[in-house]
Amino acid sequence: WVLMVTAQSPTNIAVIKYWGKRDETLILPVNDSISVTLDPEHLCTTTTVAVSPSFNKDLMWLNGKEFSLAGARYQRCLSEIRGRASDFEDEEKGICIKKGDWEKLNVHIASYNNFPTAAGLASSAAGFACLVFALAKLMNVKEDCGTLSAIARQGSGSACRSLYGGFVKWDMGKDLSGNDSVAVQLADEAHWDDLVIIIAVVSSRQKETSSTAGMRDSVETSPLLSYRSKEVVPKRIVQMEEAIKTRDFPTFSKLACTDSNQFHAVCLDTRPPIFYMNDTSHRIISYMEKWNRFEVTPQVAYTFDAGPNAVLIAPNRKVATLLLQKLLFYFPPTPDTELNSYVIGDKSI
Ligand code: DP6
Repeated sequence: WVLMVTAQSPTNIAVIKYWGKRDETLILPVNDSISVTLDPEHLCTTTTVAVSPSFNKDLMWLNGKEFSLAGARYQRCLSEIRGRASDFEDEEKGICIKKGDWEKLNVHIASYNNFPTAAGLASSAAGFACLVFALAKLMNVKEDCGTLSAIARQGSGSACRSLYGGFVKWDMGKDLSGNDSVAVQLADEAHWDDLVIIIAVVSSRQKETSSTAGMRDSVETSPLLSYRSKEVVPKRIVQMEEAIKTRDFPTFSKLACTDSNQFHAVCLDTRPPIFYMNDTSHRIISYMEKWNRFEVTPQVAYTFDAGPNAVLIAPNRKVATLLLQKLLFYFPPTPDTELNSYVIGDKSI
């Protein structure tokens, strides 16, 4: 017999960034962060997990290619889930798995991203959230989403926020065990559903400095990061929570843009400096800032993660359409502009 579960998880975009760990093994952050989870059909990972007595080792395929599960992060997620598994019985199929038996059963994992990995949008967030959720369902884990988020966090920090839709806060927690470093939903996906996210794919190249290595260097060398995590982010988190609660787009936009810029300032303040954005990213920022200063139309927001791609947020579809028209005019996807495409949800232009 084979027992199988399939799950789907969208990626999330941080509007108050996570950058820096206080514990590298458990993946505990130096500050809280807030993100918005994309619609499930957009930029998501679909993962099927299966167990069978005939599988003789744990195996994984990512986008159809075999992928090593040897990494410590995968191993930790697998053992955390296996350790919480409960009895499972399906009389019809004649399957009876006792709690302790899960440790002896090997898993096969097949994971797909519905966006081209080459687009530079591949995210470990959707991947680990989906893996942990699917494994938990398969092994009849009874824990709530908060506990699952703490397990996904040990795969990749940002993954803990993808366990929920809508707006999500990752509470940094205080406990050394990491048990209180969990994600909580601030508002569900219906709360502010007119927001539209456009991603300008500036480069399809793999980033030179991974988030993991980059934030390690920042923690060790950037004085700005300790100021940011202690003095700036705690206040911003309160303001951002309020802006989300009241759907105050101008405040939301101001906080998201400023926080993205401070995160990249921390990268520059790191030794050696990390350059995630390129000239095109900078030109897009200037354009968006002008829009917010001079256009009579409502405000827009931008945020950049550990790469040059721009994540642009419009308050509604009408503004998103106008913004996209202007972007296509000023930044058409050509080799000159270094722009590959625009992705709005699942549609590429
Ligand atoms: C810039 O979650 O990818 O996207 O925990 O080392 O796996 P690890 O890092 P990761 O870092 C994400 C950093 C960010 C900001 C964010 O998503 O909050």
